[in-house]
Amino acid sequence: MSFVNVDPRSEAAHEPVMLGEVLQQLAIRAEGTYIDGTYGRGGHALPVLQRLGTGGRLLVMDRDPAAIAHARRALGSDPRAAVAHGSFGALGEQVERRGWQGTVDGVLLDLGLSTPQLESSGRGFSFRRDEPLDMRFDPGSGRAAQDWLNSAPQQEIERVLREYGEERFARRVAAAVVRERQHAPIADSGRLRELVAGALPSRERDKHPATRTFQALRIQTNDELGELRRALPAATGALRTGGRLVVISFHSLEDRIVKRYLRAESLAPPAPVELPHARAAFRPRLRLVGRALKPGAAEVARNPRARSAVLRVAERLAA
Ligand SMILES: C[S@@+](CC[C@H](N)C(=O)[O-])C[C@H]1O[C@@H](n2cnc3c(N)ncnc32)[C@H](O)[C@@H]1O
Repeated sequence: MSFVNVDPRSEAAHEPVMLGEVLQQLAIRAEGTYIDGTYGRGGHALPVLQRLGTGGRLLVMDRDPAAIAHARRALGSDPRAAVAHGSFGALGEQVERRGWQGTVDGVLLDLGLSTPQLESSGRGFSFRRDEPLDMRFDPGSGRAAQDWLNSAPQQEIERVLREYGEERFARRVAAAVVRERQHAPIADSGRLRELVAGALPSRERDKHPATRTFQALRIQTNDELGELRRALPAATGALRTGGRLVVISFHSLEDRIVKRYLRAESLAPPAPVELPHARAAFRPRLRLVGRALKPGAAEVARNPRARSAVLRVAERLAA
């Protein structure tokens, strides 16, 4: 059974988040070189391509074969565009293979998942649906969420729920998972949703109780934070002096990683008293561009998915 929906007629549309801000912050040069590490449905990549001249280049990546199939259809015949299936954690290899180190004008990472993945991929990303609990961005590699959930030790499940879901009741939910899976494996999103709802002591007004568990399981299944940690230095290494790194995060765990990385590469750490020259030796590789940006009220009203977006920008300094 395939969990990859590549039929564009039956999938939910994806609206790009903070498109105007992204295009402005990438400061696109017609003859420039750009990388979109999270193609999705091309909501950002296609407008970038439209702004490029004949000498411009665009590499798009995505882990999801359905996104890559879309990219090949939309960009395949354009000589300025290249499509690579894979994780942005391997961005450095893609850049090296093309000899692009230190030449790229802009890298965009629009993190998380797309509307078609959530609404119509059939992979169990949404607790609102009853689907096989797969949750892989790339169903062709790694372990499905249900394989891990049905075999991981209780303490490990608790840790993942606490760390990646910031779930206060991680212990209760992990205990319920281990109890339930003794009867039958937890194989679909509906069963997990009901199990979590039954394990939590109270209801929240504005959030389904399973929100945090589903987030945690998705992050764990795709090693999302590890991939992001690998991508940020690779993107920095790809940029030319003056090139821009633009990252949109959708939850605090991602945003914290981005914020800390950008700070560490741009601001000198406080020098220890015994090493007063350590500060002088610090050579920043990036310059922060403005503060974190949030979507405007009109965008959030139009596209509620944008609600939690935070966009950060940095510019590469001379090596
Ligand atoms: C929010 S969507 C991007 C939407 C896109 N900017 C658009 O407007 O159409 C995130 C995309 O990133 C992909 N993705 C998530 N983690 C990834 C990773 N580590 N490497 C490559 N792609 C990834 C997902 O498969 C998804 O298609």
